[in-house]
Amino acid sequence: MTYGKNNPRILSAKFKISNYDIRFHNVEFSVQRNIGCAVFPERQAPKPPYNPVFQPQPPFIMSAQIINGTLLSQQLRTDVARRAAALSAQGRQPGLAVVLVGDNPASQVYVRNKVKACEDNGLHSVLEKYDATLSEAQLLERIAALNADPKINGILVQLPLPAHIDSHKVLEAIAPEKDVDGFHISNAGLLMTGQPLFRPCTPYGVMKMLESIEYPVRGAHAVVVGASNIVGKPQAMLLLQAGATVTICNSKTRDLGHHTRQADILVVATGKRNIVTADMIKPGAVVIDVGMNRDDNGKLCGDVDFENAKEVAGWITPVPGGVGPMTITMLLVNTIEAAERT
Ligand code: GUN
Repeated sequence: MTYGKNNPRILSAKFKISNYDIRFHNVEFSVQRNIGCAVFPERQAPKPPYNPVFQPQPPFIMSAQIINGTLLSQQLRTDVARRAAALSAQGRQPGLAVVLVGDNPASQVYVRNKVKACEDNGLHSVLEKYDATLSEAQLLERIAALNADPKINGILVQLPLPAHIDSHKVLEAIAPEKDVDGFHISNAGLLMTGQPLFRPCTPYGVMKMLESIEYPVRGAHAVVVGASNIVGKPQAMLLLQAGATVTICNSKTRDLGHHTRQADILVVATGKRNIVTADMIKPGAVVIDVGMNRDDNGKLCGDVDFENAKEVAGWITPVPGGVGPMTITMLLVNTIEAAERT
């Protein structure tokens, strides 16, 4: 009999044979070891079926094609600018309000880039910046005013908010038809039931990247690492609706590599540098890195060990220049769509 490494059924067959052995051959030591495998196969100490220091061997040596998010964004923004100009010509210039509370340095950079992208592509934008001491009630008042403002088609409240503000309450206060982030529960529900009004920008951008390489998502196994409301969960929904078989991993997932190695499409969104290494990638897979971290030298990097991963993957997104620009582009697309619906 051949014993499978990860096949509990076969291991339990071994267990039975071993019991048999106890009675008839008294081979106690080896039987004890086998019982450990047979009864709790998932609790064994991790025994990677690969060389921990990954050394790609023929025939798997390959260098991934890079999915250039900056270039794809430029192409999509040409269409955004055309649609914005058409709306403006009718006196309906699309408008986005970006609300920032507090002085989180990363958030400040993100909102600046969002407002600049609006300006560059013919959208009207307002940036409302508030001190971290702004009360929840004051923020809710501002959102009510933006909901009622006819010049504003999209409202984005940059997350995270200061701890004294209930972000759920704030997101639920945004009019669903202006919720260009797609975070309102009614938009999350519409997405889940297959009738999306707004697709959350980062997962929407990832789907556009897969489209750009004409990847056959239908029937593929997609693994999403990270289960946030902003990326992981909506990403899984979009992939599922595109016909993928989807696994969602989270921070408690045991033996993450076991799951990621099954992935034809691997989307990583954890905010943990190098959480995915080359040995965790199926040769030829599409690897989409949503992470935005800093390495020891302060250089921007993602969640995937890019230098080694690119020797195993078939396609891979870089950081910077991958998902980041796509997120902003899809925010523009959602704002245009909101304006076109009015
Ligand atoms: N913080 C990090 N990503 C996002 C995003 O996509 N939208 C908002 N509103 N806040 C964020």
